[in-house]
Amino acid sequence: MGKDLENMTSEEKRETAKIDHDRVAYQYGEEYGKFIEPEDLDVYEAFEKEIPKGCTILDLGVGSGRSYGYFDKRGYKYIGYDFSEQMRNCAFELHGKFPYIVDDFVNLKNHFESNSVDTVFAIYSLFHLPMEDFKKALLDIYDILKNNGVFLLSCTLGSGEELIDEPYLGDDGKSVLYMCYIPKEELYRLLRESGFDIIFEKVKHEDGSNTLGENGNDAIYVITKKIGTR
Ligand SMILES: C[S@@+](CC[C@H](N)C(=O)[O-])C[C@H]1O[C@@H](n2cnc3c(N)ncnc32)[C@H](O)[C@@H]1O
Repeated sequence: MGKDLENMTSEEKRETAKIDHDRVAYQYGEEYGKFIEPEDLDVYEAFEKEIPKGCTILDLGVGSGRSYGYFDKRGYKYIGYDFSEQMRNCAFELHGKFPYIVDDFVNLKNHFESNSVDTVFAIYSLFHLPMEDFKKALLDIYDILKNNGVFLLSCTLGSGEELIDEPYLGDDGKSVLYMCYIPKEELYRLLRESGFDIIFEKVKHEDGSNTLGENGNDAIYVITKKIGTR
């Protein structure tokens, strides 16, 4: 890719994730489009316990749609949101068409009014946002959620940012995918400052065999709730 992180704008960093996911969408979809790792199921169940039956779930970074498959079967309404057109195409091939907005997370407020969304689900996606965009995304998510709206996110614990290798692309995929890591205390501080109450946490300890980058390590899943106004 020929650029150092220090010389890249936030837009260019996000663009790496768009290009990469467009390139690997069908490979990702083949492996994960209908498969949720068994060790993640408790997080899905914990989220489901907190949300009203049949509500609408907005999935930020829906990708090839495995979470849509899971929640659709259980009677929820669904809106996918992702900036990779190829991921959208792959999701439709695997699951049939469903509401799917193709856009960048930074444009969320162009699509949703304040206090209009029941729940937000964002798993393995917000870690592709540079820190300033991530902070703004938390505020935007808070704003569009209805009061008592539930928001699940996952992050990779660690610090700093890096361009990681794309495992599906071999030698063509060296240092092509932007990742941003966050210490747990900082994540909690940002969530609370944005107005969220934290109601569930799970840390998945990685043994190194399935971590993508060098600086990030454990995955964290947090379920939060918007209580009142900020
Ligand atoms: C690792 S995939 C995970 C997909 C899905 N959540 C899952 O668990 O299978 C990350 C997804 O986030 C999307 N994504 C990353 N950064 C984004 C951004 N700034 N705006 C919109 N989508 C983004 C990518 O296109 C990709 O489909």
